[in-house]
Amino acid sequence: MEQITAKLCRYKNYNFPIGFTTAEYIDSLQDFEVRDSDIFLVTYPKSGTIWTQQIIISICELGGGLNEYPNNYEQMPWLEYTEGRPDYALRPSPRLFASHFTPALMPLGLKDKKAKIIYVMRNPKDNIVSFYHFSHVCRDLEMPESFEHYLEEYLNGNILASSWFDHIRDWHLAKDQYNILFLTYEDMILDLKTAVTKICTFLGKNLSEADIEQVVEKSTFKNMKTDPKANYEFLPEEQMKGDFMRKGQIGDWKNHLTAAQSERVDQLLEEKLGDLSLKFIWE
Ligand code: A3P
Repeated sequence: MEQITAKLCRYKNYNFPIGFTTAEYIDSLQDFEVRDSDIFLVTYPKSGTIWTQQIIISICELGGGLNEYPNNYEQMPWLEYTEGRPDYALRPSPRLFASHFTPALMPLGLKDKKAKIIYVMRNPKDNIVSFYHFSHVCRDLEMPESFEHYLEEYLNGNILASSWFDHIRDWHLAKDQYNILFLTYEDMILDLKTAVTKICTFLGKNLSEADIEQVVEKSTFKNMKTDPKANYEFLPEEQMKGDFMRKGQIGDWKNHLTAAQSERVDQLLEEKLGDLSLKFIWE
């Protein structure tokens, strides 16, 4: 791994936080033994990972057969990080994993299209703002010099998980190779019940109307914020000195990006992803 900043290292064209994983482990994941019952939640950071994690876990709990873990982080651990990693081969099914990986880094076994992947995308302007704030509270990330400077780093992919544009592009182009459900953060905000129902159907969980309502209740911003298993306040202070659950809204970018910065993002979107015909909800 090549160290590229005080907090970041690079391997296989992808930026990792320092001290969380090794090149050997990343390589070994290519042959990771995937089970048909495995569920992978994949996102670019700050796209609604812990939210979707709460939804998937709540669905699986009600759907039966999920083992007990102290919190969502341990129930759905990170595929890519070795730190505190349990032995996944010994873990009972169904196993749940979270990942910020691009397709090239994922286990090859996923291509037999049996295990399930849920991919969540968030509009890049809100994503930038969320990542910017998170970089102030997460001690594993570089403290931004200013919003302007951070925006440059983000647009150039010089941050954790590299370029948002590459992440979106790579996953959309690879979609036929996987058993994958695409969701957006904005659709979840606008109609959480429909999103929960879609996830249930994709996971093959036949929940009653009352159970679906219960999952929705458990996953609202307000309820998650006070749920000690889901709000990530269990992380030690030396890792996080602020809230994971910040605002949880669409459109906060309007409080941060100038008109010129917003236009620049629009231009890059057109240049880099225009051919994918993706739809974004901005407010
Ligand atoms: P903001 O910083 O805009 O508030 P991730 O889990 O991928 O790191 O994403 C974190 C973002 O998701 C944060 O966005 C956080 O507030 C938001 N989030 C978490 N739980 C949510 C929920 N139940 N409803 C809406 N947004 C939520």
